[in-house]
Amino acid sequence: MLKIGITGAGVMGNRHQERIADYRAEVVAVHDVHLPAAQELATKGGAKVATDDLEQFFDVEMDGLVITTPPPVRLEPVRRACERGIHLMIEKPPALNMTEGRACLAQIEEAGVIAAVSFQLRYGSIYERLKELLADETVHLVHTVCTVDYYLSFRMSPWFLQRRISGGPIAEQAIHILDCARFVMGNTKPVQAHAIGAKNMAPDRTEFDAENALQMMYELDNGVFGTHMNHCGTKGNGFELEVIGPHLRLRADAQGGRNGDRIVGHLHGNEFNEPVPTENSLGLDKYHAWLRAIETGDRSLIRSNFEDALHTLALVEAAVTSQDTGGFVKVGSSPIE
Ligand SMILES: NC(=O)c1ccc[n+]([C@@H]2O[C@H](COP(=O)([O-])OP(=O)(O)OC[C@H]3O[C@@H](n4cnc5c(N)ncnc54)[C@H](O)[C@@H]3O)[C@@H](O)[C@H]2O)c1
Repeated sequence: MLKIGITGAGVMGNRHQERIADYRAEVVAVHDVHLPAAQELATKGGAKVATDDLEQFFDVEMDGLVITTPPPVRLEPVRRACERGIHLMIEKPPALNMTEGRACLAQIEEAGVIAAVSFQLRYGSIYERLKELLADETVHLVHTVCTVDYYLSFRMSPWFLQRRISGGPIAEQAIHILDCARFVMGNTKPVQAHAIGAKNMAPDRTEFDAENALQMMYELDNGVFGTHMNHCGTKGNGFELEVIGPHLRLRADAQGGRNGDRIVGHLHGNEFNEPVPTENSLGLDKYHAWLRAIETGDRSLIRSNFEDALHTLALVEAAVTSQDTGGFVKVGSSPIE
């Protein structure tokens, strides 16, 4: 049985624990700065160690570490795991900024551990199918949308709406579908980005500064121009992705992975309306793909390794920077070096 540790015992820590249990792997230790959270998750998962002390946590022998802490907390657990040769599953964003991301990558590369970033859309059969359809096609434009209801329901951890901790809505929400746009076009890399946004909801909630309305425009190194529309105060949570080229217009009509996901539009002059299977070709989601990769050593199961995820973070960082500086921000030719 694989032995797994979890640091960050909140919503996602709990979700990872459940999927680890489904795999019949074992959560052996849980760490959280808030000890009761660690204790609660350890009890639920049958872990012997629950602690708020990193030394004690890393004294436990483990094969893999799940990092489900808020985004500013990445480098310290990554460094300690790498020193011990422990494989990593890191929740998105891979880091709060590229400086920290590069520092994590240096540790990961030196240790040679498997490091996955938790971009689940890459494991969705709808995006796998769209990627297949686009493999030999020319695409000129990509458009994505992300909506969540935070500013209506306030059903989220407060830090999600605090830019200093979450990085704001591009890093916190849009990152999933921006990463997915890169994925369906073969992990294309960012060239430049520009975003404008405003917080014009909940004026009384002065503790929150994340923009509720945001528009972004960007360029990828395959020549594709992208736009992204983001709202985090409207009914319904979801993602949309559409691509346009000379011989196609295809939209991934995702219903949150439920039955009914379809790809619709036209392809080479013909109407296109295709249901997609509920499972991807691996038969594994992001959680189980990582566990299987550790078990078998097959790194090809990981669709979002840390290095590739940094290209998505570079796109995010350029867009976030542009909000403060105005105008397009260039990514640079080797953002991860
Ligand atoms: N993949 C997804 O769909 C998805 C969805 C939601 C959140 N996330 C990401 O998962 C991560 C966790 O989000 P969440 O929703 O579980 O947040 P959460 O607020 O529910 O949980 C975070 C936990 O981390 C703990 N924590 C804070 N600082 C810590 C530290 N220094 N060391 C150890 N523990 C610490 C907190 O006490 C809390 O228990 C974030 O990076 C978030 O962006 C991903």
